[in-house]
Amino acid sequence: MGRSLLSGTFVCLLLGFFVLQSARVEGANILGVFTSHSPSHFIINMSIMKALAEDGHNVTVVSGTPPKVTHKSIKHIVIPLSAAEEKELNDGMSSLAKEKPSVFTTFRNIFGSLSMLIYKQVDVLEDTRFTDLYKNKDNKFDAVIVGFFFNNYQVGLGSLFNCPIILTWTGPPMMQIDRNIGNPELISSVPSMHVAVAPGRAMNFKERLANFGGTMFFRLFAFYLEILNDKFYDRLWGNIPSMMTYEQAKQNISLAFCSSHGISEGPIRPNVPALVEIGGIQIKDKRDPLPEDIQQFLDGAKHGAILFSLGSNLKGDHIDPQIIKKIFKVLAGLKQRVIWKWDDLDKLPGKSANILFKKWMPQDDILAHPNIKLFITHAGKGGVTESQYHGKPMLALPVFADQPGNADKLVESGYGLKLDLLTLEVDEFKDAIKELLSNPTYTNKIQHFSKIYRDRPMSARDSVIYWVNYVLRHHGAAHMQSPLVKMGYIATHNIDLYLLLAAILLVIVLISKAVLRFVWSKCCGGRATKQKSSQKTKVKKH
Ligand SMILES: *[C@@H]1O[C@H](CO)[C@@H](O)[C@H](O)[C@H]1NC(C)=O
Ligand SMILES: *[C@@H]1O[C@H](CO)[C@@H](O)[C@H](O)[C@H]1NC(C)=O
Ligand SMILES: *[C@@H]1O[C@H](CO)[C@@H](O)[C@H](O)[C@H]1NC(C)=O
Repeated sequence: MGRSLLSGTFVCLLLGFFVLQSARVEGANILGVFTSHSPSHFIINMSIMKALAEDGHNVTVVSGTPPKVTHKSIKHIVIPLSAAEEKELNDGMSSLAKEKPSVFTTFRNIFGSLSMLIYKQVDVLEDTRFTDLYKNKDNKFDAVIVGFFFNNYQVGLGSLFNCPIILTWTGPPMMQIDRNIGNPELISSVPSMHVAVAPGRAMNFKERLANFGGTMFFRLFAFYLEILNDKFYDRLWGNIPSMMTYEQAKQNISLAFCSSHGISEGPIRPNVPALVEIGGIQIKDKRDPLPEDIQQFLDGAKHGAILFSLGSNLKGDHIDPQIIKKIFKVLAGLKQRVIWKWDDLDKLPGKSANILFKKWMPQDDILAHPNIKLFITHAGKGGVTESQYHGKPMLALPVFADQPGNADKLVESGYGLKLDLLTLEVDEFKDAIKELLSNPTYTNKIQHFSKIYRDRPMSARDSVIYWVNYVLRHHGAAHMQSPLVKMGYIATHNIDLYLLLAAILLVIVLISKAVLRFVWSKCCGGRATKQKSSQKTKVKKH
């Protein structure tokens, strides 16, 4: 009996071993292509690639900016902007920072100075450092992961490398991502980027109108972008005969990772299985120790501390010096200690014992410190996520892109307050900080959120590993693709059926009308005409 038990255990172990073996895809070659020149997006991208490298894959990353996250088995190919282009981009950012933010200024700037962000991405793919990857036949990739940022033509990379393609995006599911994987779009319960609604609350009429109008506007923009994308696709790969067409490539996407977590952040919406949410992937499960000076500075903050950062796109000299002066005046007057992210350490806004200026800092690890009581932020998605993860209230000073929307949403959810950076006044800034530090509701609400945010069946990191391996195991996992991908606009929206229904109704109406007229003329109608004619004859007789 003991023997059979033993051999049973052995068989189990062996089975377990094989199951584990088949679940793992040993050392696949995975290519990550992140051509946008925004460093903050790139942190999330690299967290995805790092998770895959740690899982034992051979990872190659092509990017437009040098990485801050690295790993020994990641090979980096950096194709940066020239110094002149870098300057042009910076100037574009700084002019943006001086205007009142809105969806419209953002779009105007995307067409204007920031159209560079779109065009430069094509240049990256034309660079020989990139083209060598597919011209050199020794390279063989098993999957390609593409960062989505106004670059839908890049869905062709799957066909180019003849392997499954996975998209990643910094925010919650948005229109173009939805279209690529056949996720339902424009549902009346789902607010899009520019409409702030607290999770779970239904939109009222005005909000639905704004949502609908805004979505239509985005669609128009997307229509314009598709014309560009078509051109880019042709310019890049038009003369490679083995390539799919752009239309085919759009129907060949295996998966999309979105950096969001609908259950806690909203919106609550249906998602197809090919949409995998990995919000918070950039947040480490285990803290790294803080640099010595920051650790001491924070440990010694008897009255608590504040972290102040306007992100990595916006440099100190993009902001009106008058505003910087006001900010400094308020922060220097606090009894709390302040860590201020500042680029040019030779040209500080001022000196104060309670302020520590840092050019670069581990923001996530700092927010985790128990003495941090408030985060003053430009409300970029990454920073907001980290603050929510650690349950720290925020004062948002949004500037452009998705920041105003993120700020509205965090105010609406009760996680903090927002002010306009361009018109910032000393008093309102001081009052907002005081309110956030003294009124516990903000902290309570965001800590409640933090609990829900962290409660998941699988961590963001494990989801990335699981689903990429899934796609590898099933050679692109075409079985889980939504049929909407292959249905045109008319079929998706049943417009042909509505037309058919309308036609049938019309025919029924016409037939009933004819029948009624016939019946009428046979019975009552018949009598009426008889009466009339008899009257007529009577008249004649007289
Ligand atoms: C990855 O990188 C691109 C830019 O190359 C960015 O726009 C995209 O949102 C990023 N995705 C994630 C999940 O961070
Ligand atoms: C990793 O992938 C690259 C690109 O395909 C390839 O050139 C390299 O030989 C691979 N390295 C290993 C150890 O397999
Ligand atoms: C993509 O196209 C290839 C080749 O036609 C096919 O084998 C694969 O299943 C497709 N993948 C998806 C997700 O549609």
